[in-house]
Amino acid sequence: MTVRDPGALGFGVDIGGTGIKAAPVHLDTGELAGARARVRTPHGGEPEAVCAVVADLVAGAGWSGPVGVAFPAVVQHGIARTAANVSHRWIGRDVAADMAAAVGAPVTVLNDADAAGLAEMRHGAGRGVPGVVLTLTLGTGIGSGLFTDGTLVPNTEFGHLEIDGHDAETQASEAAREREHLTWTDWAHRVELYLRRADALLWPDLVILGGGASKKADRWLPLLDVRPELAVAVLRNAAGVVGAAMACAEYC
Ligand code: BGC
Repeated sequence: MTVRDPGALGFGVDIGGTGIKAAPVHLDTGELAGARARVRTPHGGEPEAVCAVVADLVAGAGWSGPVGVAFPAVVQHGIARTAANVSHRWIGRDVAADMAAAVGAPVTVLNDADAAGLAEMRHGAGRGVPGVVLTLTLGTGIGSGLFTDGTLVPNTEFGHLEIDGHDAETQASEAAREREHLTWTDWAHRVELYLRRADALLWPDLVILGGGASKKADRWLPLLDVRPELAVAVLRNAAGVVGAAMACAEYC
């Protein structure tokens, strides 16, 4: 591993339903400090198998020290309260304690969209932005992060706002666009309805749009007509890993 400034390094792991990513991170810049490893999430995302993979990734990177983990669930004080695209056996478990035991170092765990949002706020499109900022990941589901003057309000779960009687993430996520073979225009219309609903409840100063769909933002962003200022996420694929490492440094 090439180390530029050993005093400002962290390590982040991003757990998703299909892949688990990990990398050392320069905390002062949000850049990766070494290669990002990615492995497939073990079938079913069961706790024992996921913990073993996380331990392997940390050891494989030669990292010893605190680890931040982004996890696809509501995570209150280290404990999973929901589980999205991983085993429901996680619910009620102390994810931070399970992973700390596997890794042999302190572990901070937070919701995956909160981690991605934190990375954007510190090193991306939200850097230095005061007031209320809503960060969204449009991917398999819709994840949300809410910030007020840069401080995270954790576990907001705004992807599950109801629109026309439906859970918003089943209508306006990137996965919904792909599943229903929607045109960009039709999908953008749904995203617009969703953003208007979120705006009516939160009145954010800025909304940062990330997740898989943000890679093709030029196709749909210009089609959106909404009140708040919009920005595209800058950190893209690395946001979860970077945010997990930031959270570990900020909240450990
Ligand atoms: C979950 C959130 C998660 C988001 C992105 C949603 O279905 O409820 O907790 O952040 O998916 O993974």
